[in-house]
Amino acid sequence: MIRKRRLSFSHLYAVGHAAAWWAIHSGKSEVDNKKRYEQASWVNLGLDTELKRRLATAPPSGQRPVVNLLGLGVGEGWGEIELIAHLLETLDRDVQIHYAALDVSPQLLVMHYCVVRDRFRAAIESGRLILAATLADIVAGLGPALARLRAGRPSSAGELLPERAPTIATCFGNTIGNDDPMHEDLILTQLLEHFAASDYVTLVLGVSLRRTQGRKLTAERDQYSAKFYEFLLQTPQHLLHDLQILSSSDPTREFTIPADLRHYPTIDARLNDEWITMQPYNGEHGLTGDRYSFYYPLQTDIWLAGQPKDRVPAGTRLMLYSVTKYDFETLKQFYQTLGMQVVDQPPMVVDAAGNNPRMYAVMALVRAR
Ligand SMILES: C[S@@+](CC[C@H](N)C(=O)[O-])C[C@H]1O[C@@H](n2cnc3c(N)ncnc32)[C@H](O)[C@@H]1O
Repeated sequence: MIRKRRLSFSHLYAVGHAAAWWAIHSGKSEVDNKKRYEQASWVNLGLDTELKRRLATAPPSGQRPVVNLLGLGVGEGWGEIELIAHLLETLDRDVQIHYAALDVSPQLLVMHYCVVRDRFRAAIESGRLILAATLADIVAGLGPALARLRAGRPSSAGELLPERAPTIATCFGNTIGNDDPMHEDLILTQLLEHFAASDYVTLVLGVSLRRTQGRKLTAERDQYSAKFYEFLLQTPQHLLHDLQILSSSDPTREFTIPADLRHYPTIDARLNDEWITMQPYNGEHGLTGDRYSFYYPLQTDIWLAGQPKDRVPAGTRLMLYSVTKYDFETLKQFYQTLGMQVVDQPPMVVDAAGNNPRMYAVMALVRAR
């Protein structure tokens, strides 16, 4: 942060306080609507039919049929939980589901793991559901994380996530757009490489769409609240106050949202106007979108503890976060260029009834032989 004047976007939830803040404050009705849309994708994108067809026509191997399900950047994983419930309800009882959850946030991963364990206890005890989880950066090291998971299972317990089994991975919540730019292919290529022997690998991808996509939204830009900034400021506050890795010339004022409205009617209006920028995003293979960047102007000088000479002066704008919201058509073309079959459905409006309606879409990237 001191050197690059920015935080690591993929580690936004890695600090416990940030994860806890997110779990408590992310809106329930927003989460419920998104979860229902993600679950419906299973049928709308034809995954249900295709999976059942493949299981029914697989040549007999003398072994129990397995379906792999991976939750990538799973967070609280409400969408994945609905998918597990759906699979347990609809697949034949002899099919075993190997579910692995991966995330960079220990707190969110443990919360998710415990909900899955408690909700599906009967299926786990009967051996229908195999549950695994690991801390992992899915962009920088999905392949090694999967290899680690597999190696950690005792051989007497049978192979975990068999490489030849039909494999479905979910990556919801715009994790690809919330990472550094030009990373849209990294999760997919690692997944395909790892399951190279499988005849059916699908990445079910949830992405934020730029404002002009789908149903007309009135405002020109997505709007954010000061509450969202409270979340973004959890990590620097933690570094300053709890870990004391950072020092400030006035720690009580630093990393707080100023109450000063200047000529704005609300603090939200001021933040959207002064702290958040939106710029065109141009990725590879003609991919386009809007990139929103969330800045924070330092109110005091800061420095690494014990190194007061290397100061970042008050007024410097730190980038706390940056996200891409895609043009849907160019995103679909991007994955087709990478050789994937793309199945899509109409986007949904997140927070349709609230102050900040935003577009979100789930699509399937399929490699089928
Ligand atoms: C916006 S939330 C999405 C969570 C969930 N998938 C959803 O749709 O609600 C982002 C989640 O992705 C995780 N995440 C972001 N980048 C990651 C990365 N590179 N590797 C692993 N997890 C990541 C975060 O820790 C957080 O739990």
